[in-house]
Amino acid sequence: ANILVLHGPNLNLLGTREPALYGHATLAAIDADLAHTAQAAGHALTSLQSNAEHVLVERVQAAAQDGTDFILINPAAFTHTSIALRDALAAVAIPFIEVHLSNVHAREPFRRHSYFSDFAVGVIAGFGADSYRFALDAALRRLAG
Ligand code: DQA
Repeated sequence: ANILVLHGPNLNLLGTREPALYGHATLAAIDADLAHTAQAAGHALTSLQSNAEHVLVERVQAAAQDGTDFILINPAAFTHTSIALRDALAAVAIPFIEVHLSNVHAREPFRRHSYFSDFAVGVIAGFGADSYRFALDAALRRLAG
């Protein structure tokens, strides 16, 4: 199967960005780990990070045409703001898991609302870089049927 991993704004700064909240792993290290795990299970995994809402919207739209079977997405700040990204995921109807490094429920109140959680397959938050690993594990189990 083809798995797409999407990362929202400021996640390109992982490794140096508020490490007490987000950990020390870089985005490149996280993506490499995910690609390796997916390949070992016989799947293909590609990743994209963007700080721009329209780039993420267009990548989700393209996923409807390129054989993407499953999406892992950390919408970052767009979690709490982006009706456009929500609508794109709803439009393509590709199953997705919402991922957060930090426990968004233990932070500022504005992080408790997500435009994605109500139609995600599931939500994983609070485990740092391991949140992505757990999300991929859940996706692989689901893809295995
Ligand atoms: C985040 C949580 C969001 O509230 C924040 O805006 C981020 C990262 C996380 O992974 O913990 O940029 O999605």
